[in-house]
This record gives sequence, structure tokens and C-alpha cells, in this order.
Amino acid sequence: MKIVVLGTGYVGLVTGVCLAELGHHVVAVDVDVEKVAVLNSGKSPIYEPGLDALLDKNVSVGRFVATSDLEIAVIGADISIIAVGTPTREGHIDLSSIRDVSTQLASVLHQCSDFHVVCVKSTVLPGTTENVVGTILAHASTRQLGIDLGLCMNPEFLAEGTAVQDFMNPDRIVIGATDQKTFDLVSDMYSILGRVDFVNTSPVTAEISKYAANSFLATTISFSNEIANLCSVVGDVDVVDVMAAVRLDRRLTPLLPEGRIWPGLMSFLHPGVGFGGSCFPKDIRALVAFGSDIKSPMPILQAVLETNDNQWLLTVKMLTEELGELRGKKIGVLGLAFKPGTSDIRMSPSINILRELWASGANLIAHDPVAISNMKLELDGLPIEYSETFNDFIFDCDAIVLVTAWPEYKELENLICDRNIVVVDGRRFLDKDCFARYRGIGI
Ligand code: UDX
Repeated sequence: MKIVVLGTGYVGLVTGVCLAELGHHVVAVDVDVEKVAVLNSGKSPIYEPGLDALLDKNVSVGRFVATSDLEIAVIGADISIIAVGTPTREGHIDLSSIRDVSTQLASVLHQCSDFHVVCVKSTVLPGTTENVVGTILAHASTRQLGIDLGLCMNPEFLAEGTAVQDFMNPDRIVIGATDQKTFDLVSDMYSILGRVDFVNTSPVTAEISKYAANSFLATTISFSNEIANLCSVVGDVDVVDVMAAVRLDRRLTPLLPEGRIWPGLMSFLHPGVGFGGSCFPKDIRALVAFGSDIKSPMPILQAVLETNDNQWLLTVKMLTEELGELRGKKIGVLGLAFKPGTSDIRMSPSINILRELWASGANLIAHDPVAISNMKLELDGLPIEYSETFNDFIFDCDAIVLVTAWPEYKELENLICDRNIVVVDGRRFLDKDCFARYRGIGI
């Protein structure tokens, strides 16, 4: 098939490159001409394990090409996938890129007549696919839905750090199509993946499924953090022990004769400094605002956000309890990415933590295996020292704060041992018994 991907952010790029790897001819469209040039040289502008190699391979064999010319890309294509950003502005979703790209698509589709499917992959609020994208396409082109135009919503379930693997081994593919012909074409696009659970549904069900999936995971995190915060006030209790007991419920971790099954969800039942990234905070905020607009308030999700918004502050509170006045104290911040395995720092708790510690007058040194350059851009002007290694500077610090659970930070258990350095574990990642002065969320 010839497939066009509109937008080459995380979702668009991973989708486009993986579809090319499946054997399709993919044209990726982006207004950023510099990015287009980088992509055509076979290099990925983002850090995502496995992506560089697949991009390079598919550019060389001519199955993946990037362009800024939407018209040339779309003429003769079977499917156009919309993967542009849907940021939140003033608490509400901003659909301007979705509208722009739909309008441009409509004017090209006006010029050709083969059946063409427009597939929305961006996360959009209920009704957007049909009422915004569908309406623009129907008004601005001469095409008729179900006749020569197909419309569908096909959400992505790609987690950063494992996006390529998630695409190639999907747990489900949700296709919210307006008609069977569209469903058939879009499911064909994925058929090379072999046996997958397809959900053949309506666009609005697909739209809500994506929000519900992310909201559920984020709720699990804030729930764990709420219990953690209760434990830290009760005293003489560690939330890690509490959660270990909760997880042993056979409805969470089924008990089979050959042993227990540990579903991936169990890692979300864990305390920490809160969730970040490009999806959870933005999507849940957008859904809460949407619920309020349509007079269907979402108090649980509102509380999920509130708990998360305050969680990072606990690290600063623990540092102050241990060190007193932070002015002049040397603090090492370990981990800048919003989670391990990515260089993405969007909505990372480390941003707030660094800003607050700087405002308190602390001397800051920060480490991350891959996210330093992104944080330098984000906190441009703040006098923070960045280091490519951490096993040297930690000994000069009054305290260190672990914000991202990169596996290499396990070394701290041997390195710091009984030294008089305060360790604030923002992810409950380290063995508390290995340190003389350990503080962790939920103890
Ligand atoms: C998420 C969804 O997982 C993905 O399906 C969707 O398409 C996009 O949003 P992503 O934002 O990349 O993906 O990250 P994810 O791994 O889900 O982590 C989100 C947040 O939850 C992070 O802040 C992370 O630190 C936290 N998290 C994740 C946990 O606290 N525990 C975990 O086990 C995993």
C-alpha cells in the first residue's frame, strides 16, 4: 500500500517507519524542512531504541521518504494517517494542527477520485474524527463518506522507549471506522503483523478507548501515591510493603499451579514522584476539561491530576527535613527524563524539582544518560552543572535525589553505602537498607 503519514513527531515517525518495515511505501509529511532533510538522510531526530536502524534501512531501500509537499505525497495514496500534535492550551485541547492538515488533505482529495482513507492517529476528544475531520473533508472535497472516502480513528498505544516493539507486537489494534470498507483497508495495512486482537468499532469508541486506557494507568499511579502519602504520615510503615501485600491478590496476580503471573500493570502500583511524559498529563487534563464542558464532571481524574501535581514537591520537603536550609547545599539530581529508556523530558517531575531547588538557593549538579541536552534547552539560563557521569560527583554532594529509575543508579547501593550523604529516592528504586541516610516516598 502507499501510505502517507502527516506529522513526524514520536507517533508519526514510529508509525511511518514501522509501516515501511512491514513492506508499505510510506511518505512522511512535515512542515519542518530541516527535519525532512534529516529523515531523508536516514537519521532519526528523536532517541527511540531501534528506530534509527529501521529508518536507515527503509530510507536506503526507498520504502520511506519524507517531504514537505503534502499534495505530491497524497495523490495516488491509499491511506493518509493524521499524526499531528494535539497539545493542551489553557486546559483545553488545541485542534489547530488537526484542522489545518484536514483542510489541506481535503483540497488534494478534491483533485483525485480513487477510494482514500483518512485515519486519525492523534489523540483526539470524542467526536473530533467525525465532527471536525469528517466535516472538513466532506465540505472541502467533493468526496462522499463510505463511497470514495473512508474515515477512521486508530489510536496509538506506543510507550516511549518501547515504541518500535509496541508497534511490531501490538496488544490490540483499535479501528473506529465509519464503514466496513474502511475497516477492511486499515486492518489490511496491519495484516503482516499476524494474529492481533482487532477491535472493530466506531470512531467515538476508539477515541474514548485511548483516553480511558491512559486514564486508568495514570489513576493507578496516583492511587499508589495517595496510599504512599498516607503511610508517610501514619509512621512505622513502608508503602512498598503495603503494595507488595496488595499485589498478592490473585485477581491482580493470578495464582496458577506453575506459579504466579505478574501483569505489567503491577509496576504502576508503585509509589514515586508522579507521572510525566507527553501523554498522561496532557490527555487527562484534556479529558477532565471536556467532561466539564459537556456537564459530566470527572472528580476521580481531577484528583488523579491534583495528587500528581503535588507529588514531586515531596522530594524537596524531604531534603529540607534532612538538611535544613537548602541555600548553599550541594544537591545531585539523578535522572532528568520522565522515565528510563527515553531522552524525553516533557512534563518530567525533574523540571519542577530542579526549578524549586534552584529557587531555594541550592547548588545543583544533574545527570542523565541521554536527556541532558534536552534539559539544558528547557532550563536555559538556570545555573545548573550537568555531568555525563554520576559516580564521581555524588561524593561531593550533601544529598542526592533519584528522579528517574535508570538501571545504572542501582550502583548507588554499593557506591554510597554508609557515607553521610542523604539519599532521597523519588522512585523507591533503591534498597533502603544500603544507606545510612535514606528517605523515600511512602516511608
Ligand atoms: C503512555 C501509554 O503507556 C501509551 O500506551 C500511550 O500510547 C502513550 O502514553 P508513555 O507516556 O510513553 O506511554 O509512557 P508510560 O511508560 O506509559 O509511562 C507514563 C508515566 O507512567 C511515566 O511518568 C512513567 O514514569 C510512569 N510509569 C510507567 C510508572 O510509574 N510505572 C510504570 O510501570 C510505567
